[in-house]
Amino acid sequence: MSKDKLIIFDTTLRDGEQSPGASMTREEKVRIAKALERMRVDVIEAGFPIASPGDFEAVQAVARTVRESTVCGLARALDKDIERAGEALRDAESARIHTFIATSPIHMQAKLRMSPDQVLEQAVHAVKKARQFTDNVEFSPEDAGRSEPDFLCRVIEAVIDAGASTINIPDTVGYNIPQQFGELIRQLIERVPNSDKAVFSVHCHNDLGLAVANSLAAVLNGARQVECTINGLGERAGNAALEEVVMAVRTRQDVFPCDTELDTTQIVPCSRLVSSITGFPVQPNKAIVGANAFAHESGIHQDGVLKQRETYEIMRAEDVGWTENRIVLGKHSGRNAFRTRLRELGIEFESEEELNEAFARFKELADKKHEIFDEDLQALVTEANLTLEYECYKLVSLHVCSETGERPQARVTLNINGEERTGESDGSGPVDAAFRAIESLASSGGELLLYSVNNITSGTDAQGEVTVRLKKNGFIVNGLGADTDIVIASAKAYINALNKLADPEERSHPQLGDV
Ligand code: KIV
Ligand code: ZN
Repeated sequence: MSKDKLIIFDTTLRDGEQSPGASMTREEKVRIAKALERMRVDVIEAGFPIASPGDFEAVQAVARTVRESTVCGLARALDKDIERAGEALRDAESARIHTFIATSPIHMQAKLRMSPDQVLEQAVHAVKKARQFTDNVEFSPEDAGRSEPDFLCRVIEAVIDAGASTINIPDTVGYNIPQQFGELIRQLIERVPNSDKAVFSVHCHNDLGLAVANSLAAVLNGARQVECTINGLGERAGNAALEEVVMAVRTRQDVFPCDTELDTTQIVPCSRLVSSITGFPVQPNKAIVGANAFAHESGIHQDGVLKQRETYEIMRAEDVGWTENRIVLGKHSGRNAFRTRLRELGIEFESEEELNEAFARFKELADKKHEIFDEDLQALVTEANLTLEYECYKLVSLHVCSETGERPQARVTLNINGEERTGESDGSGPVDAAFRAIESLASSGGELLLYSVNNITSGTDAQGEVTVRLKKNGFIVNGLGADTDIVIASAKAYINALNKLADPEERSHPQLGDV
């Protein structure tokens, strides 16, 4: 029997960005969108165009770049939102508008102050309005997980008649449990007379840690689209993790009547990219993409795996994109070998100039670190991509002195809008001293929300990848930096964050717009 297709709708760039602090610039969103396209995600929800000018531009940039996946924009059930989404998506090869209005009693009464009939009328109007821009319209009854099934049936029937081709059932507050949520989906598909004219989708939040379980229960009961995010990012406790949903369905083909068309070998590279851009580390014991997901510690397990891998492994690490820590390149490798290996990793350069810049960084790194791994190459490209169009601050040099019993001192020289200036400071540690020295020149007043260091590979000569999250006037930005010297990596990350704070064009966090 042939299997149905399970559509994967990724909302890392929209709901994922609603994780407090996970703001992304337009360029970063485009890079993630390209990685999702490479993974063959069916639909990419690129943002909420009405939320802010930055969000509009990010959706527009993704729509202009992505060719293989459908690009979607979110809109409340309001004309102005839908018009803005339609405009942002104008250049997409395949565009979808996702419009929503709440249907639960608590949301209708306390938030919308509307009667059920008014909500139904507005939902129908919104879908018809969205159809003026595209045939591909998705409708979500927000907080469906706490809505009355009878009312849901009425709304869904009406919006399908109005032209919605995807009906997404969100468990907005993560309140449902799998058996109940699966049953809700089954009932809706059974009871709505025109349900065969739409694809039923689910969008589950993880407040009780059940987002993936609820999504899978829905799939077993007829849902054929799952909305999810890389690494389970998202509002509050996050959304269903794409990698878990996809691999559960792929691994348990004996149970699921459908499968996705994803290239699962792109999962780990995509997870790393999202983690380094957002500064949200992946916990080591996270399913599929955690560093320990395929590591066997106990002797009994190791012995079993050596005898026959399936004794303790239900998936193959290479099928989700884990590679052996292989030394791939070294000091004497040429430009061609460099370009070829990156191509194998799915990374293409847009111009010869970009390739040359990345290659120059590679040579610098190879001088400091003799064994270059795939992970180093990926970090190097992430770094090369960090060069912002608008760079007010550039690091010229950093000198740090750290000695037992003495307070660390830092001296930093920055190029600020073309002028070189030097500042000094002490600090409680070398990183603190370096940040204070930079701040003595920049006087940004940014509040440090997060400082984190991750080693990219193992060994004491590994590169450290640093994330610095700064907040100023309500805007939140993440700065990244990588280097074999973690104090320099930290300074680079701090400066990257300062450049983003200084550039009004780059701030696109939807929570900070007028919505
Ligand atoms: O969680 C939610 O209800 C949403 C909707 C906009 C689909 O994110
Ligand atoms: Zn959501």
